Amino acid sequence: MGKDKLRKFAENLTFENLVQPDFDDIFHRDHPLKGRWAADFFNNTNPLTLELGCGRGEYTVGLGAADPTRNFLGIDIKGARMWRGAKTATEMGLANVGFLRTRIEFIESFFGPGEVSQIWITFPDPQLKKGREKKRLTSPLFLARYARFLRPGGVIHLKTDSRELHDYTLEVIAANGLPLAVASTDIYGTGLADTDHALKIKTAYERCFLEEGKPITYLRFTLA
Ligand SMILES: C[S@@+](CC[C@H](N)C(=O)[O-])C[C@H]1O[C@@H](n2cnc3c(N)ncnc32)[C@H](O)[C@@H]1O
Repeated sequence: MGKDKLRKFAENLTFENLVQPDFDDIFHRDHPLKGRWAADFFNNTNPLTLELGCGRGEYTVGLGAADPTRNFLGIDIKGARMWRGAKTATEMGLANVGFLRTRIEFIESFFGPGEVSQIWITFPDPQLKKGREKKRLTSPLFLARYARFLRPGGVIHLKTDSRELHDYTLEVIAANGLPLAVASTDIYGTGLADTDHALKIKTAYERCFLEEGKPITYLRFTLA
């Protein structure tokens, strides 16, 4: 492992805004913060938004800086990437921003019924290979997991460069009769991003895709 990664992992241990549970603490059991994020982690009663596969946490930090009345938690398995978000949020003094290092497959161990009000899924691996559908973060399997903690009417945002994942998610939404609020196959080309501050936040992967000239797609839907 490179020295830079080791330095980031060491610094991660010093961040108060980063939770890194041991596998044994969450495998088939609830984490102590389940149902308690607002009260015990953010020390308030504000609604919670998650960013799944947050990478460097651009959405978590960007949304948190723009709205101090809500809490934002970025989730990813890669500690060296989350280091960037945790460090930036610490330097900016953002008390409403946090990070959780875990596999998204274990997400039900962390959030109680109705605890989450919004979910952003930003440029997830589209998992297009045959037999990988269950790994897609918008598959029925994952949506069923989110339903256990997303409050009624809670919103899911999917931003991706993958037209295949966009179209697949539209199919899942239609097949399950889910309310679709917004769908765009090119948020910059159509001007949609100009109408919504949140859509203008750009992630590291997004910048690469834009340099390649790929259109960025967006879906906003609810589970009920
Ligand atoms: C393509 S990157 C996008 C990162 C960031 N959202 C961006 O747009 O720059 C996908 C991210 O999801 C994370 N990831 C993929 N599968 C995951 C899983 N099962 N649990 C937690 N994180 C996962 C990866 O570590 C990676 O940081």
